[in-house]
Amino acid sequence: MGKITEALKKVAEDRLARMDKKPQHSYVVTVDPKLTKDFNIDPHVVAFSDPASPVSEQYKILRTNLMSLSSKTKPIKTIGITSAIHNEGKTITGLNLAITMAHDLNKKSILFMDADLRKSRVHKILGIENIEAGLSEYLQDSLSIDNILIKTGIENLTLLPAGKGPKNPAELLASYRMKETLSILKNNFDYIIIDTPPVIPVTDPGVLGSQIDGMIMVVQAGRTQRNVVQHAKHLLDQAGVKVLGYIMTSVEYHLPQYLYRYM
Ligand SMILES: Nc1ncnc2c1ncn2[C@@H]1O[C@H](COP(=O)(O)OP(=O)(O)OP(=O)(O)O)[C@@H](O)[C@H]1O
Ligand SMILES: [Mg+2]
Repeated sequence: MGKITEALKKVAEDRLARMDKKPQHSYVVTVDPKLTKDFNIDPHVVAFSDPASPVSEQYKILRTNLMSLSSKTKPIKTIGITSAIHNEGKTITGLNLAITMAHDLNKKSILFMDADLRKSRVHKILGIENIEAGLSEYLQDSLSIDNILIKTGIENLTLLPAGKGPKNPAELLASYRMKETLSILKNNFDYIIIDTPPVIPVTDPGVLGSQIDGMIMVVQAGRTQRNVVQHAKHLLDQAGVKVLGYIMTSVEYHLPQYLYRYM
């Protein structure tokens, strides 16, 4: 390694070490409350719109199961959400999980990162408008992280929006700056839930998944074939991604009335 490269690496490492020492939760900025349009959140986000519903209860079970996977020696703090193909319910599932975790009685701080740099719509689902910059700009420019984190208005939940679609999303997600960013954010939030594009059409979930603690695969019931899911799992395995589990969406339950009474 040349002397200049070595010096640059040292400067980057020193910068990272300095940033890591900053106090916990120091990066969250408050945005103008007018941006959140009085909680105009998509009703599919049931953990917010109907937290007592049987579906919301399923997200609480998921939260419990995820917590039980985590141990002191191997904590699970960075959790990606992906699926084999598009439109299986990744974003809505991820948001429901993030809100359910934010509602945790232990008051955990949750960051929802929109890392679907190709088709970002998380801020719209949360009813947040006028996003000027997000992960995409942060990875390309010398922006401060304070400028892109948004308080959602939901207690304990912060959003890192995707920003404008870049030309090279996979390269940005594979960059050293992305690793650095994850490391900084891990020190400032209890959990980071990361929305990603689907596995089969693009490489982004593989690139990102290998840098985080694991991925949850969303599978749309009655649509995505078993061999398609297996192929996606194979691609994630090849990329060194830990698959934490699977969530089925669009499942229709026909529960007898007496069961609802206990939920
Ligand atoms: N659990 C669910 N049950 C039924 N429908 C759902 C569920 N989750 C999401 N949907 C619906 O499915 C559609 C796609 O949802 P979503 O945007 O979350 O999918 P996605 O996998 O993130 O899509 P993309 O691949 O485009 O990012 C939306 O219309 C949403 O309302
Ligand atoms: Mg999505």
